[in-house]
Amino acid sequence: MNAPTRVVPNNLEAFWMPFTANRQFKANPRLFVSAKDMHYRTADGREVLDGTAGLWCCNAGHSRPRIVEAIQNQVAELDYAPAFQMGHPKAFELSSRLIQLTPKGIDHVFYTNSGSESVETALKMAIAYHRVKGEGSRFRLIGRERGYHGVNFGGVSVGGIVGNRKMFGTLLTGVDHIRHTHDLTRNAFSRGQPEYGAEFAEDLERVIQLHDASTVAAVIVEPVAGSTGVLIPPKGYLERIRAICDKYGVLLIFDEVITGFGRLGQPFAADYFGVTPDLMTTAKGITSGVIPMGAVFVKKEIHDAFMNGPEHLIEFFHGYTYSANPVACAAALGTLDTYQEEGLLTRAAELADHWADGVHSLKDLPHVIDTRNLGLIGAIELEPIAGQPTKRAFTAFLDAYEKGLLIRTTGDIIALSPPLIITKAQIDQLFDTLRGVLKALD
Ligand SMILES: Cc1ncc(COP(=O)(O)O)c(C=O)c1O
Repeated sequence: MNAPTRVVPNNLEAFWMPFTANRQFKANPRLFVSAKDMHYRTADGREVLDGTAGLWCCNAGHSRPRIVEAIQNQVAELDYAPAFQMGHPKAFELSSRLIQLTPKGIDHVFYTNSGSESVETALKMAIAYHRVKGEGSRFRLIGRERGYHGVNFGGVSVGGIVGNRKMFGTLLTGVDHIRHTHDLTRNAFSRGQPEYGAEFAEDLERVIQLHDASTVAAVIVEPVAGSTGVLIPPKGYLERIRAICDKYGVLLIFDEVITGFGRLGQPFAADYFGVTPDLMTTAKGITSGVIPMGAVFVKKEIHDAFMNGPEHLIEFFHGYTYSANPVACAAALGTLDTYQEEGLLTRAAELADHWADGVHSLKDLPHVIDTRNLGLIGAIELEPIAGQPTKRAFTAFLDAYEKGLLIRTTGDIIALSPPLIITKAQIDQLFDTLRGVLKALD
């Protein structure tokens, strides 16, 4: 790793930081100045083990040579090309590469710049698809309690995290939610998928019947809910959701923004669970987080339904200035090369047992009310301090950072999702550090 850079800005005021306790941060800032492979380096010269792949995105680790080189070459050769009515070769090359990874039948790609934009795109596609098929009455969207689908209006509307919803008015109309799947009374300390709760899927049938199937366009779920604190789907749950969608002609959207690109030991969660959605939203791991990019993967029937009418007309009135940006495409190609050369899209499967041992080794520590895992995802749920929700986990986050480990917390849940290059020794180090942090908690 490079020698530490110690340049620290002397005024932090102007930057209004996203999803951050701004005043707390600015009183005691935590700045990363460089990163390599599994580690960040802080402004005060300390190494921090990345237990979260940045924000669930740096699946290949940090500053990986293939990706760095691909970006450097691309920006010098073709920095930008208009995204509408024009193309560039790498966008097509990348698409062909990507659809070799997607489940059978999902063979078209629409590019965005983030997970939030992928979600908006998929929701619009679903509604428009029914319309081009002559079923314009299907406009309702169904999400799930505790779901996270980014921060734009559509995604917040189908999302189910109260704090993300309550400040922003009426949101989208025509949206309903099914119940979440978190059930610690029956499933606490599950290793892998919880045993109980497939029947929670029946709530989808109830909601579809309430509105009548003829008004419902799509349901969107995260195969494994991440941002709400890692909720692993009970055995049989996703299969049941798929069957209900088929029964009522409702499109199933998997939000694979965190599960896509190897997190569970398969390219996508759809592969891991053996359940194929109609659309998949992705971002993050598509470029290993290095350049903003997202993609919506679509079944052939959905794409083909739009390909009608006069050929000079635009088929889908949607897109972004930076859709398939050349530098992002190059970054994604460099990322896919890295994944493929190093077997990273299946590496989580090899590490999953060792990882699960680490996660569950924390189960008897004070305040721990649940430990759970799947692939290279782990969560430790803490008993909240009475009257001060989130404080206990946030204290753990701050202490872990001081002890050289980056974790992520949401509510009183610690979520772990390291880069897929993590070694077994680093997994042990991660859980040893976390054990020290949890033992020190009040
Ligand atoms: C499942 C899911 N969907 C959507 C998003 C939003 O992605 P972005 O922050 O890139 O807009 C996230 C981000 O964490 C996510 O986890």
